Amino acid sequence: MISQMTKIAAELTLTLTLTLAGAACSPAERPVLTPLGAAAPAPLCAANPWESPARKVLDAHCGSCHRQDLPTARPAALAVFDLTRETWYDTIRPEQFEPLLMRIRGSADIEALERIDVERFVGCARDGLCE
Ligand code: HEC
Repeated sequence: MISQMTKIAAELTLTLTLTLAGAACSPAERPVLTPLGAAAPAPLCAANPWESPARKVLDAHCGSCHRQDLPTARPAALAVFDLTRETWYDTIRPEQFEPLLMRIRGSADIEALERIDVERFVGCARDGLCE
């Protein structure tokens, strides 16, 4: 009897923990299987399918200030996102995605297909549109 109650309590705690973790990671409430068993960036967070294509675009066009391994890096820029970090996007605050898109759209050097990769990345990261 007591052990059964302990088990129920443990299950409740687990459910609560999972619920809270899911809330902190809203676009990713369901588990996602990544190809080749690649590790997800964080437990319970779905991988953003456009994380890598978007990083490539930003690397080419924004890397001079947003990569800590370059002498031209700017600390204030790294605080927003640092493209050398594995989960480079987890420091971007929700309200920073719109200015990010504006910079992408405002750059004449960025081609339409590159822009679409970044837009889809933001759609997943910010709006939970991950398919
Ligand atoms: C010449 C250096 C430099 C380049 C190149 C650069 N950034 Fe930044 N970025 C900064 C600095 C410095 C900050 C922090 C100060 C600020 O908010 O302007 C920043 C902040 C930001 C912010 C958060 C501030 C905001 O506007 O809300 C975003 C988003 C951003 N950068 C996106 C980009 C994108 C996307 C590119 C490429 C298209 C880019 N940056 C290229 C230097 C740069």
